[in-house]
Amino acid sequence: MAAKQFSVLPQHLGIIMDGNGRWAKQRGLARSEGHKQGSETFRKIGEYAGNLGIRYITFYAFSTENWNRPETEVNAIMNLFDSFLTEAIDRLDENIEKGIRLHFLGDKSGLPDELRSLMDFVEEQTKHCNKVHLNLAINYGGRQEILQAVRAIAKQVKLGNLNAEQIDEALIADHLYTAGQPDPDLIIRPSGELRLSNFLTYQSAYSEFWFSDVLWPDFTEEHLNQALSDYEKRHRRFGGI
Ligand code: FPP
Repeated sequence: MAAKQFSVLPQHLGIIMDGNGRWAKQRGLARSEGHKQGSETFRKIGEYAGNLGIRYITFYAFSTENWNRPETEVNAIMNLFDSFLTEAIDRLDENIEKGIRLHFLGDKSGLPDELRSLMDFVEEQTKHCNKVHLNLAINYGGRQEILQAVRAIAKQVKLGNLNAEQIDEALIADHLYTAGQPDPDLIIRPSGELRLSNFLTYQSAYSEFWFSDVLWPDFTEEHLNQALSDYEKRHRRFGGI
């Protein structure tokens, strides 16, 4: 679809991909079919958002709490993630040419070794790209992210490299998985749920939100256009007047 023009775009867009299970249930399909369709929507919307000129895009794919789902469902999501990584490696030259840098946000140590080495490889190969930063949050939890930052900073204090007084908001931000990236300006959550669910907990302090009843597999470029034209009209005050 041709990219629409907006007077203001979010620099960083976050998307919570929700509603895959309900989409499948409505059609009498297995939940994994909803995730499969959801992963197609992820590709389509990621590409469209990049074409619009949004520089940082974060998709919430799998939370630290999602391990509580049935094993078959967890495996289905991991397989989709594996396919995405394989495809990203197959298309590495094309992605690099487009300037797409891939980042994975989350606790990699909790993921299968095979996936982890593919993730490390793709991150390393695209680390010089700077046009579009595509973040995929996988085994991600906002509280876990803050916890690991606190531990890393505490270690530095213990080693005597840092005083407690030197800890400021910027230093905390530098220890998050999104280090060096701007905070999300806009967070989209489809599927009718009105919550953040442990997504970008620290970074979303001043984010704008956009909710919709559409289920993620049905989310289209038009929905994103709608969210962005609503965002254009928002008056962001960051605590000022
Ligand atoms: C939430 O919907 C969705 C997830 C927990 C998984 C999202 C994963 C994908 C879209 C595929 C990941 C693959 C890649 C390539 C990133 P839900 O299952 O909670 O839906 P429900 O609330 O309707 O049950």
